[in-house]
Amino acid sequence: MKNIHRDNLTAVVQHSFAGIGDERTRHLLEQLVGHLHAFALQTTLTHDEWRAGLGFLHEAAHITTDSRSEFSLMSDVFGLSSLVDLMSSRPGTTPGSVLGPFHARGSPWMTTPVNLLADNPGEVVLLHGSVKDEAGQPITNATIDFWQNADNGLYWQQDPEQSQDNLRCQFKVDASGCFELLTIRPKPYSIPTDGPIGELFRVSGRSQWRPAHFHIIVEAAGYQTLVTELFDPEDPYLDSDAVFGVRQALVTAYQPQNNAADMARLGLSQPYLSAEFNVVLPPARARVPSNHA
Ligand SMILES: [Fe+2]
Repeated sequence: MKNIHRDNLTAVVQHSFAGIGDERTRHLLEQLVGHLHAFALQTTLTHDEWRAGLGFLHEAAHITTDSRSEFSLMSDVFGLSSLVDLMSSRPGTTPGSVLGPFHARGSPWMTTPVNLLADNPGEVVLLHGSVKDEAGQPITNATIDFWQNADNGLYWQQDPEQSQDNLRCQFKVDASGCFELLTIRPKPYSIPTDGPIGELFRVSGRSQWRPAHFHIIVEAAGYQTLVTELFDPEDPYLDSDAVFGVRQALVTAYQPQNNAADMARLGLSQPYLSAEFNVVLPPARARVPSNHA
């Protein structure tokens, strides 16, 4: 008979995963058990508090659907998403930022210069830039997945008035590793507050707002995939992002443009704003060994 007591419980539970063949998976589970038990011990967790915690998770599961994950939001508002992003960022390359809950696979493929304006109201923005490696060489096989909210602050998933392809696309950079994309200036928005995370924000008095941003994923064979966001420097919520996604390198100025030739080339009849975003990708790397977790 195995005599379980407070001093051997953690080690016994950790050992229960010894049959997992993958070393990294086994290491992660052992560490998770160790930190969970340490949390309970250090806080002297009571039965009532433990049940309240499980209830919070039950509520998160209850409100989660295929198109809305309360667990992703939980990771974001606890800063875990940003911590993972920051740990994987390499100096000299473009930092990552949170994926957020509104990415949908299968955006329509377009060709640079991309035009997403359609009949969207809002300030017209030309987002332009390049994708390069750490040596400054263009990455000509890069693809960009782009999405943002509309002028009313809503993503297409939240707004039955928008088509499901509104303000999102995929495209390849050109032969110089460059791109141009005509769109509208994004708007700040509130994270969903109708679930348990909303209650957490109410009791803590935290700001539920995210500063306006573009969402961008850059992928290229042989390089690390970049999931990031691009922020508006004039946004009032830049210093209080509910999910801690803002990085200085991801804030780019919006420059007024009124050159007639450029407007004609872009098919615009009015002045517009331009924003530049130059991406630097690090090379792909091997999986992190377990002893460096
Ligand atoms: Fe977003």
